[in-house]
Amino acid sequence: IPVDLFDLVIFGGTGDLARRKILPGLFRRFCAGQMPAEARIIGAARSELDTKGYREMVREAIAEFGGEQACGDEHLEKFLGQLEYVTIDARGDQGWKELQQLVVGTDRVEAYYFSVAPSLFGDIAERLQKWGMADDEARIVVEKPFGRDLATARSLNKTLATYFNEDQIYRIDHYLGKETVQNLMAVRFGNMLFEPLWNSQYVDHIQITVAETVGVGGRGEYYDKSGAMRDMVQNHLMQLLCLIAMEPPAQFAPDAVRDEKLKVIRALEAVAPYHIVRGQYQAEPCNESENPGYRTAVENPRSRTESFIALRTEISNWRWAGTPFYLRTGKRMAARSSEITVVFKDTPHSIFGDEAGRHRNVLSIRLQPNEGITLGVTIKEPGPGGMRLIDVPLDMSFAETLDPDHVDHVDAYERLIMDVIRGNQTLFMRGDEVEAAWAWTDPIIEGWEARNDVPKPYDHGSEGPTDATELLRREGREWRKVKE
Ligand code: BG6
Repeated sequence: IPVDLFDLVIFGGTGDLARRKILPGLFRRFCAGQMPAEARIIGAARSELDTKGYREMVREAIAEFGGEQACGDEHLEKFLGQLEYVTIDARGDQGWKELQQLVVGTDRVEAYYFSVAPSLFGDIAERLQKWGMADDEARIVVEKPFGRDLATARSLNKTLATYFNEDQIYRIDHYLGKETVQNLMAVRFGNMLFEPLWNSQYVDHIQITVAETVGVGGRGEYYDKSGAMRDMVQNHLMQLLCLIAMEPPAQFAPDAVRDEKLKVIRALEAVAPYHIVRGQYQAEPCNESENPGYRTAVENPRSRTESFIALRTEISNWRWAGTPFYLRTGKRMAARSSEITVVFKDTPHSIFGDEAGRHRNVLSIRLQPNEGITLGVTIKEPGPGGMRLIDVPLDMSFAETLDPDHVDHVDAYERLIMDVIRGNQTLFMRGDEVEAAWAWTDPIIEGWEARNDVPKPYDHGSEGPTDATELLRREGREWRKVKE
């Protein structure tokens, strides 16, 4: 579906996120015929570039990060022709008049992407207003980190609210733009099969794992001040938890969905210290120079920041009381693998006797890689050996099931930017959601700061510290293996 004519201004238009994700993503939407020929993308940043220089920079970024779905040189030239550049000083006056002349007075959707440090949000918002660009129709897109605790998130919300209404603010969590995350809602609320079983009576526990093989790379300075809790759990894992646990919203509409997510966050139990395991990755043996340990990577030999976290929580509401939710995420783990697993309870009684073996249904929703949904069902082992039970997967791997020629593969950022242009906030976080998430996270972080907690070392390429395995094992459960 083509979108309305728009001007998208990217503050931080020469930055890492713009080059890696936003601009190549926009080019892919252009290739898919979704970007109107007159739409403009206006990079705005401190670098002294002109539009020609900017187009060259974007050409290189697309060559590097555009992916195989990009659509050839002729289209690329047209796309680059839709780019403009303004050198701007977010804290001063330079460039604002020029930007104003470009965008004000046109009958287009105006969207401003704040791909900059949160410390600049207020300055940019203030200048947008001063230069007449913050009218009621304008939309702003803001990136994480949205604060580093409840107080800073509140203050950011307050600052933005001075200039924009809540329905103009699009807080991005790119996990919400992932295909399978939306499929999770389709599976839950588009089928009769699952919803009746989706509660503490039938579900033994739920696991959410986001494992990465990358380390902190060149982001050591940011990461060492954040850690896995702030970088991943407070936002991405929390959003996944909300979607898996929320009540059915009355419609698939922004506030209906976000109201339900908010209720989940507010019902989350505080996490006891013995239900948290923090870890820090070690260097790869014999390859320390290429894959150094966490402390070397962040150049902080005494760092107490976690690159891994596993925790157990519960949701105190009618549907979920007593059902453990286990969350885990880490860098430099055995495989890149993001998965939500719903483990159902044992059947109340085995008519086949103990020898047949007891099995559980497991629904696994894979976000990446190899997106798909698998339901483990128990059947009779084929052959003459009597009634022995085995598990087989009822598999719906999207790559195999859906005809790849007819599936438009959309990266999370592409989808979300198009939603901004369409004015659809369903997959964006509302201010109160972000604050509620910090209100749950803050005491956990304060707890380990007060205890001077030191993260446990874990091996490069492992499943995290052994204590994380114990977290489930002592309750008679096992993590799903981290594998691609
Ligand atoms: C980002 C985090 O939000 O998400 C990174 O800051 C992390 O540390 C990334 O690597 C993971 O995203 P994805 O889409 O690669 O799973």
